Formats: sequence, C-alpha cells, structure tokens
Amino acid sequence: MPHPSLINGFSKLTKAQQRRLIYDSIGSDLNNEQLSQFDVASEQLQQTMDNFSENTVANFPLPFGVAPNVLVNGRNYLVPMVIEESSVVAAASSAAKFWFSRGGFQAEVVAAEKLGQLHFRWNGKPERRAALLPRLEARLRQSTAHLTERMEARGGGVLGLTWKHLPAVAPDYYQLLVSFNTQDSMGANFINTILEEYGNQLTKWIACSTDLSDDEREVEIIMAILSNYTPNCIVRAWVMADIEAMQVAGSGIDAHEFSRKFELAVKIATEDPYRAVTHNKGIMNGVDAVVLATGNDFRAVEASVNAYAARDGQYRSLSRCEISTGQFLFELSLPLALGTVGGLTKLHPLANFSLDLLGRPKATELMEIVAATGLAQNFAALRSLVTTGIQKGHMKMHLQNILQSLDANECQRREAVSHFAERTVSHHAVKAFLNASKE
Ligand code: MEV
Repeated sequence: MPHPSLINGFSKLTKAQQRRLIYDSIGSDLNNEQLSQFDVASEQLQQTMDNFSENTVANFPLPFGVAPNVLVNGRNYLVPMVIEESSVVAAASSAAKFWFSRGGFQAEVVAAEKLGQLHFRWNGKPERRAALLPRLEARLRQSTAHLTERMEARGGGVLGLTWKHLPAVAPDYYQLLVSFNTQDSMGANFINTILEEYGNQLTKWIACSTDLSDDEREVEIIMAILSNYTPNCIVRAWVMADIEAMQVAGSGIDAHEFSRKFELAVKIATEDPYRAVTHNKGIMNGVDAVVLATGNDFRAVEASVNAYAARDGQYRSLSRCEISTGQFLFELSLPLALGTVGGLTKLHPLANFSLDLLGRPKATELMEIVAATGLAQNFAALRSLVTTGIQKGHMKMHLQNILQSLDANECQRREAVSHFAERTVSHHAVKAFLNASKE
C-alpha cells in the first residue's frame, strides 16, 4: 500500500523500526514475523547480508539448485544454479546428461577484454588527436602506475586507448575508450578507479601541456565509467554429434527429423526477433542462474548479452545450429564479463560455496561453464518445443507449486503426481482434484 506522506530518515532507523514502519503502512494487524522469518540464524551472517545493500529489512530467499553431469572440456561439473522458475534446473540437468554420453560440451574464451569510457568536452580540433594521443597515453599510464601495479603483476592492466570524437552528441564531445584485462576479477572497481584518475590527469595535462595552444586548453569532464557492453569478452560453447546419435527417447520422431526441426527452430530465432527474444530468454535462464549463484552481476550480463544479440542492427538468436556431412553442431557465443575473485564472490557464503563446488575456476573457466549451461538450457527448451511441447515437463514441475499454494499434504501430493502424470495440469484441475479427494 502506498505510504501517505514523505518518509525522512528511513535509512537512519534501526531494522526493527523500519519493519514497524512498513507493517504500519500496510496495516498493523500484520504479523511481526512476516519479515523476520527470513532472517538467518547466524547474527554474523545476517550482518554480512545487511551490509551488501541499504535499508535491508529482510532476506529474499531463492532456490539454490545443482545441475549435475555438466561435462565441459572433459571436466564434469556440478553446476550451482539460483533460479525460482520451475523446470530450469531439471532441463539443464537433462540436457547435460544427454550430452554427457555424446562427448559433453566444448567451450573456449575467444577474447576477455573489458571496456571503460571517459567522456569529456574539449575545445580542440579532432584532427589533433592522432598527434596528441601517444603523449597523453604515456602521461595517463605513468600517473596511474601505482593503481595498475597489482593488476599488472596478475597479468592484467590497461590494454589500450582510443580517442573518439562523436560530434552527434556535441561538436566538442570526445571520449577515451579504454580497454582492460582484469584477469579473474569482473573489474568494475578497478576500471572505474582508473577512469576517474584519467579524468583528473587529462584535466591537468590539458591545462599544462606545452603541446597545446591556448584555445585547446579548455576541457570539461562529463563522466567516467566502465561500459557494460563487452563485445570483446566473448565465450563460445558448442556440442557436436553424429545425426544418428540425436535420437530423443519418447519424442515419437527419429534422429533425422528431430535434427531437421531443431535446426529450423534455431533459424526462426535467427531471423525473427519475436522468437529470438524468447529463445535467448531460455539461454539466459541457464546463464543468469549460474551468474547469480557465483555472486556475479546478472544485470550487467543481461545488458551486454542483449546488446550483443542485436549487434548487426536486428535482434537475433545467440545460438546457431548447423547440420552438415551427417554431423549435428549446436553452438552459442555470448559476451560474459565475470569474476571469480572480489565483489560478492567471497563475501556471500553461497557464492563462495558455488566457486568451491566448481573447483575455484579462473574467470575464463567460469565463462566456459556458464556458456555451456546456457547452451544446455537452450538445447533442452528446443528439444521439448520441437517434440512434446514445453508444457508437459513445465506443468509437471509447476504442479508442485500449485499443490503448495493449495496447502496439499504429503499424501495428496503423491496422489496428485500420479493422477496428473498423463493429464493436463491447471490450477482449476488441481483444486478440483484435491476437493474430490477430501470427499
Ligand atoms: C521459458 O522460461 C523459456 C522458454 O520459453 C525458452 C524457449 O522458448 O526457447 C521455454
């Protein structure tokens, strides 16, 4: 319910006071336990959770599942997945098992470069950039050496700088587009720190440089921030098998027909944006779940992946299927800026656990695992769609949610599962079944 007036100083209240205010605003007859039932038992852990964000009045639990048998480059992973949607983990597990006996997933990191931008206005001529950039770059690198030293020792650092002019923004608008290698960290803090310092140094350099005329000494820094679009941080995952091996048990069609329909389904998503968005959403079911489980930034991944899917001007499928010389090839390429050190990866106990479960991978290995899980998810969705349809498996899982919402007991659940094994599940049908079973 909306609050009737402006709330001042909410963040200064204790958690108990914040909860009281919230309960009051939705009706004081509400149970005080409503939010506190989600508190974790350990005070220290609760403190850690509270420190992640502001005004944390409760925890919001999501299921933490595991997809077994995800064989990537010959290593068999138990993949942690945080997702609330029924049947996503089941689908990933089933696709992983299907491919396990067919050689598993292959994956490779094509490039692992991150980007950041310093946006500024400058009263100079665009053609002067080529002559000035080497001296500017040397100055920027030298003056931030103390900030890049540790990253360079780990094999990362600043890779290069481009000085761009975008007169469509404003005639005097420029930007430094900076590329980075941030090794196993996602790198947002590192990149933003460097860029802000570049802003300070650019201002000083322009004010004092003898290379510049008086007219050219005017600069205004607009902003400095990483770009979440990472088209040079790309991972590719693929599966391959003889067409003869593409028989799907219980599908009612043979391996050739299945492969042909599957290939066509991917083609539809390549050419039709309406289908492409849903198709890619299926991929992101797997990708986001692992990204979340490992404490990575799924919003950054989503933003980048969706921009990448539209990189040629039309939104298209991220995956590709090709059938030639009796071989079925299914592959996925997508940008993934991930970290396995820093940020939540260590602070969140379950993110830390997830990384343990995956054998403490390097960021590039995690990119491969995530891409393989996205491909598994896409494969499972298309496999259902071109054979039995998606609802059969989905509603079987959803049945449990409906039973839960109707307070079914253990015995009723068992009976419902058997009753709906070959029947269409709907809220109405399940309710009727439970009512009948009470009579
Ligand atoms: C549902 O979360 C995902 C699917 O719609 C994906 C797809 O249609 O490919 C099943």
